[in-house]
Amino acid sequence: MSIELRDLYQEIVLEHSRNPKNAGTLDDADAEAKGNNPLCGDRISVFVKLDGDRIVDAKFDARGCAISVACASVMTEILRGKTLKEAKAEHARFVDLLTSKEAISIPEDEELSAFMGVREFPTRIKCATLPWQTLSAALDGSDIEVTTE
Ligand code: FES
Repeated sequence: MSIELRDLYQEIVLEHSRNPKNAGTLDDADAEAKGNNPLCGDRISVFVKLDGDRIVDAKFDARGCAISVACASVMTEILRGKTLKEAKAEHARFVDLLTSKEAISIPEDEELSAFMGVREFPTRIKCATLPWQTLSAALDGSDIEVTTE
């Protein structure tokens, strides 16, 4: 990992885990789901408010590590204004960013690219993808709690 990317990772994860954006619940959510990481016991719920097929609000309620909380914070910021299709594409792009063996270009979005820091730590990839997996379950209308395993 380059020094710039490591610094960015530490800065973004620290900032968003200490001061998470969109932490809380949405009483009038149109979609919601729960997720957990059985390896550590961390849990997250994701809530989404829709206007047609566009996400107008997203919140999360987590008891998790700094990476999962920071990732949920960045994710809920990114989601606002996205269509369901765009949100799914962001999920796929994020997973690719963390797991692809191919050379990938670093996204211009600094907050997203900061999580590329977990590529070197396979167990931490699950921390970062847990919020996105849970979001995906919410958008699919799944009422089964998703797990990272
Ligand atoms: Fe549990 Fe990160 S250590 S989700």
